[in-house]
Amino acid sequence: MADVVLQTKGGSGGIVIDDDWPGYSLDLFSYPAHYAGDLQCVVVPHGVIMDRTERLARDIMDDLGDHDIVVLCVLKGGYQFCADLVDKIKALSCNSDRTIPMRVHFIRLKSYLNDQSTEDLHILGAEDLSFLAGKNVLIVEGIIGTGKTLKALLKHVEAFQPKMIKVAGLLVKRVPRNTTSLPDYVGFEIPNRFVVGYALDYNEYFRDLNHICVISDSGKMKYKI
Ligand code: HPA
Ligand code: MG
Repeated sequence: MADVVLQTKGGSGGIVIDDDWPGYSLDLFSYPAHYAGDLQCVVVPHGVIMDRTERLARDIMDDLGDHDIVVLCVLKGGYQFCADLVDKIKALSCNSDRTIPMRVHFIRLKSYLNDQSTEDLHILGAEDLSFLAGKNVLIVEGIIGTGKTLKALLKHVEAFQPKMIKVAGLLVKRVPRNTTSLPDYVGFEIPNRFVVGYALDYNEYFRDLNHICVISDSGKMKYKI
């Protein structure tokens, strides 16, 4: 696939992982034995996720550090990134003069069956977001594929008239897209392959894996619905 350069609204498009990057062998890392044979390779090791998240926390603090923020964690895939990002922001707050009072709210989106995006997007826990009015909102997502989900979510959140909305996405897939809804803060730009781990699932499996990995064909078969 021809390289598609991501245009984020601010900052960088994240660490770029090329289409021809074979990933790390699973033998180089620890992972749960119950997933042996279900994974092809490690794309982003857990330690690298944590290091990148630390830097994103600093960038967010630099941009939003003088206002209260409401973090909107997009479940389920965003829970681990959100927890770690909030931890890193808290660490910065504890160790400098600049602190941000943070509230964390959870919403749930569901649109994937097996490895395919479905048309019907469900937003749960977002019925009344009137408390966002006039606030700085940080939406935290685990992965952005086509961007359609993010676009729908942004439209929903905008209706409650926050003062500012920023989006942090750990992973952005390099897919041809005609939407401009990309995160302001991106961890990694990855090839258009189905990945799991670090709270990202395939039919609810693999959330209990620390690294971000590519699922194998046999893994897809084993957990197919
Ligand atoms: N993995 C898990 N969930 C996802 C993905 C993916 O690659 N893309 C969109 N949702
Ligand atoms: Mg999912």
